[in-house]
Amino acid sequence: MYNTTEISKNLYYVGGNDRRIALFESAFPVPRGVSYNSYLLLDQKTVLFDTVDIAASEVFFENVEHVLGGRALDYLVIHHMEPDHSASFVRLMEKYPGVTVVTNQKVKAMLSNFFHFEGENVLVVKEGDTMSVGGRTLKFVFAPMVHWPEVMFTYIPEDGILFSADAFGTFGALAGSVFADEVDFERNFLDDARRYYFNIVGKYGVQVQNVLKKAAGLEIKLVCPLHGPVWRSNFAWFLQKYDTWSKYLPEERGVAVFYSSVYGHTQNAAEILAATIARNGVKNVKAYDVSVTHVSDLLAEAFRYSHVVFATTTYNNGIFISMEHFLSDLKAHAYQKRKYALVENGSWAPQAGGYMEAIVREWKEMRKIGETVTLLSAVKEDTRAQLEALGGEIAADVLKETDA
Ligand code: FEO
Repeated sequence: MYNTTEISKNLYYVGGNDRRIALFESAFPVPRGVSYNSYLLLDQKTVLFDTVDIAASEVFFENVEHVLGGRALDYLVIHHMEPDHSASFVRLMEKYPGVTVVTNQKVKAMLSNFFHFEGENVLVVKEGDTMSVGGRTLKFVFAPMVHWPEVMFTYIPEDGILFSADAFGTFGALAGSVFADEVDFERNFLDDARRYYFNIVGKYGVQVQNVLKKAAGLEIKLVCPLHGPVWRSNFAWFLQKYDTWSKYLPEERGVAVFYSSVYGHTQNAAEILAATIARNGVKNVKAYDVSVTHVSDLLAEAFRYSHVVFATTTYNNGIFISMEHFLSDLKAHAYQKRKYALVENGSWAPQAGGYMEAIVREWKEMRKIGETVTLLSAVKEDTRAQLEALGGEIAADVLKETDA
């Protein structure tokens, strides 16, 4: 049965949720599910903005049919070709063969690659092109590499509506409310939004900054992303988050201590360090066992804080597996602009610190605090003193108002 919401005059939410999915894109746990958003505009022409993942396709097609109310579907605007938004394309074309696809040249090529679609009824648009659909105008704003090359936004100037593709999206299914201001977004969605941003889009901060500059020139009243709630108020608050995130700046002054530990000694060192930092007045301290917490959460937390600690055992003459994976994921997402400290352990030949330092030094604007603390198995009084000294240095640095 259909389940739609009118989100603006004659504009309807026609997407759906998936709470059965275990791993989004086979990579990211989504315990709160995910929504696949699609929007249908009724003007003199009818316009569908994107389709949905197969998981939400049944309710999606019922929604579209219900909102159309017997009218033909004139246009399908495709902003992004990842299959979580395009997988229902073929069935849509079968059901509404008269529809004209409105999109860009890169999407057209991907339609062929993904679906062997070579149809003639494609209207190819370019950056800045406009088309009237009756009382409203669609203006196309390209957003390359946010986070795929074909991505574009659509802006409706008459209503100040921006269809923003994956940008401003979040993990987490919609629980009845479509609008961000109908829920406690900061409590219910911000952690998921941050994790979504850094894992999916985060590598492309420069491109996000470029599109934010384009968006700054638009009067925006409603933002319709492809995942998560629709924004109709207080969008400036979320936009500020995106600005901070895409500049790779810390969201909060604080410390995230990341450790891997085989027998508990490196954990012990990490906890002594965390306790010292807290005892020195830092309230914002987190500690994570990187072998336990999913790397997508670790990545988001690393980007969240101004200071990070990497503490790990030496393993197979290198860095312990889960820490090596985490560091490699940070590198892949262009991690940068943080203060860091290192702790290494090794029962006979501790070497992980040197290997970690070689990796971190390749990242932009990383500044080390103190010397690497080296443990030989368990923490002793001398290494405890070194950890406490390091913790004091880290705390003093965090408590400075700024790194500028
Ligand atoms: Fe939600 Fe990039 O797909």
